[in-house]
Amino acid sequence: MSFKIPANSPIRTADFLYGVATAAFQIEGDIHTDGRVDSIWDTFCREPGRVLNGDNGEPACQHYRLWEQDLDLLQDLGVDAYRLSIAWPRIMPASGEVNELGLAFYERLIDGLIDRGIKPVVTLYHWDLPQYLEEKGGWLNRETAYAFAQYAEVVVARLGEKVTHWATFNEPFCSAFLGYHIGVHAPGYQEEAWAYTAAHHLLLAHGLALPIMRRLAPGSQHGIVLNFTPAYPATDRPADIAAADRADIIDVHWFICPLLTGEYPAGYFTRYPALKPVIFPGDMALIAQKNDFMGVNFYTRHVVKDNNGDTEFVPQTSAEHTHIGWEVYPQALTDLLVKLHQTYPNLPPLYITENGMAGDDHLTADGQVHDEQRLRYYERHLNAVGDAMSQGVDMRGYFAWSLMDNFEWAFGYSQRFGLVYVDYETQERTVKQSGLAYKALINEIRGR
Ligand code: FCB
Repeated sequence: MSFKIPANSPIRTADFLYGVATAAFQIEGDIHTDGRVDSIWDTFCREPGRVLNGDNGEPACQHYRLWEQDLDLLQDLGVDAYRLSIAWPRIMPASGEVNELGLAFYERLIDGLIDRGIKPVVTLYHWDLPQYLEEKGGWLNRETAYAFAQYAEVVVARLGEKVTHWATFNEPFCSAFLGYHIGVHAPGYQEEAWAYTAAHHLLLAHGLALPIMRRLAPGSQHGIVLNFTPAYPATDRPADIAAADRADIIDVHWFICPLLTGEYPAGYFTRYPALKPVIFPGDMALIAQKNDFMGVNFYTRHVVKDNNGDTEFVPQTSAEHTHIGWEVYPQALTDLLVKLHQTYPNLPPLYITENGMAGDDHLTADGQVHDEQRLRYYERHLNAVGDAMSQGVDMRGYFAWSLMDNFEWAFGYSQRFGLVYVDYETQERTVKQSGLAYKALINEIRGR
């Protein structure tokens, strides 16, 4: 089985990178090994009712001990690049303290990738804030932004230019809005205004860290990874179109707008003054420094309608959905990329840093995982990226989410996103049909 990608598709160009992505807490396990301290996700997992089935960061994929075999798997898949994240709680067990064992683990991992000819693409923060910082206010505390810059300095000083692409944050939207307003992610608050304060401090942390990272790794690319869930109006009524625009302010523009223009979306805090965070003079200039690249994470879209000035989600009951309940709508990826390109003249080169789907996957008697829906999902989204490139968007690569099934946050182990199936009891890995197709595509493009 293989993907159908037109022979002249721009995603077949030699310098378009193909990779897969993971994140530390989702795959590593060994949450108490070698001096790792608790993160806000360890705490969240212990709170009853927060994570499905009471699941937590053990065993995950036991990648902390099986990392070498996982690197071999990456090499076998033939990927050009691997996007991973570093666990802050392994690196800094207390404010100002550095754990050599944590740094050494990631150094072995990065060296192992380089030995196998795979480019390391590293995210510094994929949601696992050390719990000791949460106890001082977490992302509501401006000091956390400075603590992040210190952590970034420790890590980049050690790994430097071995890492080809450094990203400060993964999906600050989720940390801020899911963590502080909706409450479904750690630390689990439901205070709307807090989300805007957290968002500002996350952006500030990015701005504080960026010049340090550039100084320590001038030859690497530096950027940030954002997620986007574009909204479509349920009808062409002007009120529904306005509702979609309102939803996009938060779900598309909230982070990219200040990063590229130095301002939050126009008029927002005039309409909602109670949501405005404390912004110090100079903050916005720090936030709006140049990025060498941006990562785009895309999974689905929303359809919305107006309900007396409120924005209401309209479930697309007859559309295709994935096991986690997200609609499959690849056209939204092309539309999004083209829209970003048209809206932001200084948009840096983009990578798809995450895209994929959860399936109700099973290992069958023939020893295989027949994930046809995922195969089609990848084929259609890869072609959606090609379409955006044909319309002038500067895209440099694509990372599938995820290398392997893993801990899916509030859904625990119930949602499988991998190209590789993981049996959590035996820790055996099996490449799914979609993984084999991804490998075949890369091999074909690379002429192997
Ligand atoms: C993204 C996260 C990633 C993974 C996917 C399914 O929001 O960045 O860790 O959980 O969703």
